[in-house]
Amino acid sequence: MDTQHTQNTANVPYSKHRLIRALWRQPVDRTPLWIMRQAGRYLPEYRALRQRAKDFLVLCKTPELACEITLQPIQRFDLDAAIIFSDILVVPEALGMKLSFVEGEGPQFQDPLQNSQAIQQLPRIDAASELSYVMEAIRLSKQALGGRLPLIGFAGSPWTLATYMIEGRSSKDFSKIKNWLYQDPHSLHALLDHLSHTLIDYLKAQVQAGVDVLMIFDTWGGVLPYQAYLDFSLYYMQIIVSALKAAMASSGKQTLKKVPIILFSKNTAQHLVAQAATGCDALGLDWTASLSVARQCVGNQVALQGNLDPAALYADPAQIQQAVKQVLDDFGPGYGHVFNLGHGITPLVDPENVQAMIEAVHHYGVQDLQEEDSKPWR
Ligand code: CP3
Repeated sequence: MDTQHTQNTANVPYSKHRLIRALWRQPVDRTPLWIMRQAGRYLPEYRALRQRAKDFLVLCKTPELACEITLQPIQRFDLDAAIIFSDILVVPEALGMKLSFVEGEGPQFQDPLQNSQAIQQLPRIDAASELSYVMEAIRLSKQALGGRLPLIGFAGSPWTLATYMIEGRSSKDFSKIKNWLYQDPHSLHALLDHLSHTLIDYLKAQVQAGVDVLMIFDTWGGVLPYQAYLDFSLYYMQIIVSALKAAMASSGKQTLKKVPIILFSKNTAQHLVAQAATGCDALGLDWTASLSVARQCVGNQVALQGNLDPAALYADPAQIQQAVKQVLDDFGPGYGHVFNLGHGITPLVDPENVQAMIEAVHHYGVQDLQEEDSKPWR
């Protein structure tokens, strides 16, 4: 039996959902799974809607469509969660930055931030009202789910959002933001601080609208030198996690529903101990990390999520089965694992192969539930 429950999960509410229970490191009948970018271009039904809407942002900003796309993967597959369909870049867009998604080229900001003055001019916004379309999509999705599955809400990390706001698009070398980091760290901190405040409000509003889990995506934390990662990326995620946890712990009018928080900082396995110390509930791992090594480092503090190489889904079903088994075996027996890919699923993956992966998790992820374990955990 798993003996790794610690104080931080002692006071959490009971949940019937596998995903939530695993994130609190409670007993589950089998390892839960969901897929990063599960609503996306590998699904023909998504591509059809996308083509009709023409513009990706229209999908994000039309709650009925966002809700429909949120439900697409769970209608097709037996997954353990839905994730609200949106994008991390709707936050800088709400701050007034003109954003477009160019087919085949990814996101682009028309006027990337170029100087400290541009940062000072960023407005303070009320995230709940400026991003009310996300909240409405969450409410609709929750209604449609009817409690059958939990709904994951999310945001980008301050550092990752800043990379897009300064580089203007996906970057290979991050030369612009790194230039700032070394030449004018003070104004970069001002931007990260501004984003952190906005993101705290944004994530709180998502919980109030109904999400059951929060995930912070730090896709580009791994491009920073060791100390700079701690100062420019993790520090701000820590501020966000602390503020959310404080709101969840407070009593009275300000109380926020207690939901688990997953931190995913890609390519940063050397920082797992510091990440767990933020007080988050789970860490996402990319495929370059080892779940068993990570567990040795932080296993009794947080749950772990991941970490099949998304490219493994290009293999045939028999090989996919083995790759899934390898991930589950790497984590080993006990609770606190959420199966996922190590990063988002890619557009060329065949949905049949996704089905093979899911069946393999259902088969190999079965847990030997002890009588004692099946009692509601309080
Ligand atoms: O996971 C889900 O199903 C929920 C939806 C979701 C999207 N983006 C939809 C999307 C989530 C959680 C994201 C997060 C996101 N967006 C991240 C962090 C996670 C990660 O993958 O690293 C980042 C860095 C972005 C920014 C972004 N949005 C990029 C770089 C791109 C282009 C690359 C690509 O995959 O096309 C997007 C576009 C995007 N976001 C698409 C989807 C379904 C494809 C857009 C299209 O239909 O053309």
